[in-house]
Amino acid sequence: MNREQVLKEIEAEVAECTDCILHMSRKLAVPGEGPADAEIMFIGEGPGFHENEQGRPFVGAAGHLLDTLLESANLKRDQVFICNVVKCRPPGNRDPQVEEIEACAKYLNRQIRVINPKVIVTLGRFSMARYFPKARISAIHGQAQMKEGRLVVPFYHPAAALHQPKLRAAVEQDFAALVPLLERAKEIHPPDAETPPEPEQLNLF
Ligand code: URA
Ligand code: SF4
Repeated sequence: MNREQVLKEIEAEVAECTDCILHMSRKLAVPGEGPADAEIMFIGEGPGFHENEQGRPFVGAAGHLLDTLLESANLKRDQVFICNVVKCRPPGNRDPQVEEIEACAKYLNRQIRVINPKVIVTLGRFSMARYFPKARISAIHGQAQMKEGRLVVPFYHPAAALHQPKLRAAVEQDFAALVPLLERAKEIHPPDAETPPEPEQLNLF
């Protein structure tokens, strides 16, 4: 199976998944989308109203802002892979619960393994917690760290700028950091799925 086929297989499983309570209220599951060989992957929180209607990630207000922010970093949406920690909409856009995130992690883990991105950008607290479980987003946003052989950088969620205008500058600042980050990423060769990172890879910078 090639990488596109693996992603399609994950999509098909997600569409039918009943492994957590979120399947009961979803209209369409939202597996995520983007090129199978994307060098950069964005991980958000979970589908909202419009995403649940369309089965696509980040197509509502936060998605429009994401598109604009990507443009400011000279990135087009179709160059990057975009997904979420939970693939089905939490009712009323409530926070995803730990058991839901855990039940859904197998899909995200497989997406990361097959795409093998050089850079992972987490959007908001819930995807940040995957890599920085104890961190406060206000303290570490915009700072990249090597994790498992790739650069992982936590950003504020674009929706934060919509709900709290005073965070707008911080959100924009995070995306401005993408340009130098992608330059830095040219030196990065993430490990294959089965190969643990070499210790020296972790000290590239
Ligand atoms: N917010 C998210 O975290 N994900 C989406 O897909 C849309 C909005
Ligand atoms: Fe399955 Fe994830 Fe949807 Fe829960 S959120 S039903 S684990 S695909």
